[in-house]
Amino acid sequence: MSEQPIELDEIMNAQFIKHETDVLIIGAGGAGMRAAISAFDSGSSVTLLSKSLLGKAHTVMAEGGIAAALANVDSKDSWETHFADTMEEGVYISNYRMAELLAKEAPDRVRELEEYGALFDRTPEGTIMQRAFGAHTYRRLCHVGDRTGLEIIKTLEDQILHRDIKFFDEMYVTKLLKDANRVAGAVGLKLNTGEFYLFRSKAVIIATGGCGRIYKVTSNSWESTGDGLGLAYEAGAELMDMEMIQFHPTGMVYPPGVKGLLVTEGVRGEGGILLNSKGERFMQQYSPKKMELDARDIVARANYAEIIAGRGTPHGGVYLDITHKGSDFIKKKLPSMYKQFLDFAGVDITKEKMEVAPTVHYQMGGIKVDPETTATNVPGLFASGEVASGLHGANRLGGNSLADILVFGKRSGDGASSFSKTVSLGNFAESDVIKEIERVKSLTNSNGTNPYDLSASLEENMSDNVGIIRNEEALKKALKVILNLKEDSKKASVQGGLKYNKGLLQALELPSMLTASEAIVRGALERKESRGAHARSDFPKKNPDMRKNIIYKKGEDGMKLEWRDVPKIPDELKKIIPQEVY
Ligand code: FUM
Repeated sequence: MSEQPIELDEIMNAQFIKHETDVLIIGAGGAGMRAAISAFDSGSSVTLLSKSLLGKAHTVMAEGGIAAALANVDSKDSWETHFADTMEEGVYISNYRMAELLAKEAPDRVRELEEYGALFDRTPEGTIMQRAFGAHTYRRLCHVGDRTGLEIIKTLEDQILHRDIKFFDEMYVTKLLKDANRVAGAVGLKLNTGEFYLFRSKAVIIATGGCGRIYKVTSNSWESTGDGLGLAYEAGAELMDMEMIQFHPTGMVYPPGVKGLLVTEGVRGEGGILLNSKGERFMQQYSPKKMELDARDIVARANYAEIIAGRGTPHGGVYLDITHKGSDFIKKKLPSMYKQFLDFAGVDITKEKMEVAPTVHYQMGGIKVDPETTATNVPGLFASGEVASGLHGANRLGGNSLADILVFGKRSGDGASSFSKTVSLGNFAESDVIKEIERVKSLTNSNGTNPYDLSASLEENMSDNVGIIRNEEALKKALKVILNLKEDSKKASVQGGLKYNKGLLQALELPSMLTASEAIVRGALERKESRGAHARSDFPKKNPDMRKNIIYKKGEDGMKLEWRDVPKIPDELKKIIPQEVY
């Protein structure tokens, strides 16, 4: 469909700019960009929106590599082993079909990225280099030093710029619009100009990433406030497995300004070891076989246990040491880590140990999608990347997020493009648009509750009560705080206008942050067992009866939860899984 000229409408004192497109993509990280490429190449007109600037995506924080069974370094690797590792890590509540598609298609997506121009590290034979990562049976992570996410974003950005894809940066989507049951567009506020946009589209893809910013200590960048979760939930989409939040074992602990910043698993993949303040290599007690390269939940909980037991470092972490590998090796393999520690903490990691502690890193749950097309239960609405759920189950393998955004980003673009060819542009009442614009405007120039105070309380509450180890008492306390904050957020408002107003953005982000938090806490209360990343001190064991997904949906009087069976694994795939421990 050809792009409509942009026109300015003026109705009832409210102004907005209209834009029409076949496929509207909200979020321009790796998943959104990969979706844009495939939707465009499938013949659809595509519009890509970013809350941030093009190229400034949280994807860059996945540093250590893309998991893909190329078998360049370990010739025994195969898609079957990658599938089995993914299912085991997800503690068997992952969607088997998503895990199968990921394992089978990741190698092609990596080779395609190389064709697009990505410059991977090389083996002596000239093939793509692969490194070890936690809980992967073989060395599988295709990487570019410790800047793999950045290389992906730069490569995809180049492809976007060479296609006729319309791009709006600093665009915050405040609401999805529906034509009866179908999603048919969105309202956006251009943050740098204060203009409102009305997007009409045949399909919408949500690719807004995660919600790590609901926690005080996180590796996530400022964009990760769960925007897409809120948009989809309000539009009637089902969310799933929201209680599953991954703590990465190694985030920086000081200086305070960078607390939580990621220290890539690549450090351990390249031989880094963890030590407590007594100089003990404590992973020997927690995981004698896999040591520092066990699953993230196990290593993160081990780090936490050492810190809690009083064997931590002066700044409240544990030590991560790679000095034994030598200066040249470290600077070649981990150039960003070398610079990050030197610039921020004044630590030379070629000579000194790093101090690290667990940091909130990833949401395994999110919008429930169909594995083949990434369609949600709401017609016209698709989702991919971290905002979508199903693939990772109760825990995610390092490097599977970058594989995820490539495999399911492409499928999302293809799925939305196919859908867009079966429908025409939908209609919605312009009064709905005006109402939304008036709502956003009403958040400015008044003397209500400060949204920064509300988000600070939320972050503190999540970190204190919904952390790496959970229990009923703390979770109930957390829920109470969230419900109070929801009430308070109705009175949130800021000084100033619509243009470049960071306070307004915070007020707009709050409802989605609260929706994500409420779902996480309600799910964590409901799941009375410990499984993967979800650990409860009052229910320390896995309960086979809870090998199910939890679904979250907006009901007439609030959030509704429902247990649902995981899709049955077909026999031919079951055979691949060595031991199905539920
Ligand atoms: O540690 C890391 O480099 C993170 C990778 C990931 O989350 O996949």
